[in-house]
Amino acid sequence: MTIPTTLFVNAAQTVTCAGPGRARRGAEMREAGVCRGVGLAVQGARIVAVAPDEELRQRYAGASEVDCQRGLLAPGFVDSHTHAVFGAPRYAEHELRATGVPYMEIARQGGGIHSSVRDLRARSDEELFALAVPRLARLAAGGVTTLEIKSGYGLSVHDELRSLRVIKRLADAGPLRVVPTCLAAHEVPLEYRERAHGGDEWISTICEELYPVVQREQLAVFADVFCEPGVFGVEASRRVLEGGRRYGLRPKLHADELHDGGAAVLAAELGAVSADHLAAVSSAGVAALAGSSTVATALPATMLFLGTGRQAPVRSLIEAGAAVALASDFNPGTSPLQAFPLVLTLAVSELRMLAAEAWIAATVNGAAALGLANETGQLAVGYRADIALHAVDDYRALPYWFGERLCFGSWSGGRACHVTP
Ligand code: NIG
Ligand code: FE
Repeated sequence: MTIPTTLFVNAAQTVTCAGPGRARRGAEMREAGVCRGVGLAVQGARIVAVAPDEELRQRYAGASEVDCQRGLLAPGFVDSHTHAVFGAPRYAEHELRATGVPYMEIARQGGGIHSSVRDLRARSDEELFALAVPRLARLAAGGVTTLEIKSGYGLSVHDELRSLRVIKRLADAGPLRVVPTCLAAHEVPLEYRERAHGGDEWISTICEELYPVVQREQLAVFADVFCEPGVFGVEASRRVLEGGRRYGLRPKLHADELHDGGAAVLAAELGAVSADHLAAVSSAGVAALAGSSTVATALPATMLFLGTGRQAPVRSLIEAGAAVALASDFNPGTSPLQAFPLVLTLAVSELRMLAAEAWIAATVNGAAALGLANETGQLAVGYRADIALHAVDDYRALPYWFGERLCFGSWSGGRACHVTP
């Protein structure tokens, strides 16, 4: 039986991001593969041709067509860092910070992540799943076709497993591709914080009781840790991540977000897949990342929402030769952002990236931050049909017209995620 072919034709511009199936670094990040008159042929979950429209129509006579309506044909975004499974939003903290109470002080008082933990523990799996579904739909409506979701609001073996099973249900439900990460080391749970060596005890529990089940049930691909002075230091983070590795979980870090604690250096040393945040990274951290295979992921919406006035030194990272990715960090505390294209705006305006660099960072390099750079993130033959259409005629227009909802179609593995009539 032959698989039916669908052609994506009539685009004003196509941004392919095509090139090697690995993270792009330094000057390579400027090559976004922008062209005109080029469409795609898709069979099942794969792209089978990238060529001028007329050539596609000749080669695949009788194929059905998706009309790109003179818009921008692009790879779907790979949002490589989210915390999309949670209960309630945290409006009060947003205002508290406005009055001058810092993020870490709110956590010290038992709020912040801890309030999301209390809330998640009180909800059923069914409720958590039902709350996440429309959030994923909104991400897809912004052009996201692959996303990572972290646990980390359970902070007990039982509730971390519940969160990871909800993430697995979301992955199974589709159509978005979901990559699961175990972030049990998101904070020291309040019930452990009272004890003299509570943090170490929680890490032992994670390594001895949680990871074996995560591996047995294949509930996560990555282990992550909030490596930040006052939460988990470098040695504690090393235990979390080396422990995860023993159970097949590849390391990722929340690194040097608010204060430099040597997390980026640790990430490079461990060969972590990514080091994320980096708003407070040191020059030694920049150099370590540039000399490693670890993807440096900037989360500019978080810094905007926290109102810190700081951002990751992305220009220094790129110029030093690091591979930079962009993600939303979608979560209820520091980045309640579901309209992904705003991340590209912030990349250009706040991080001083070129639009082409922002596109590569949000596609190919996002995929690399999930170990998927040879499967998704570019419009090229053999890659997954992860595609988005935007109602603009120039790749620079998406970061420019900020705050608009311009995506009018997205497909993950050839399956429609979001299509407007
Ligand atoms: O990536 N900083 C740690 N984790 C999240 C925030 C989680 C929260 O406040 O709920 C982040 O910013
Ligand atoms: Fe995060």
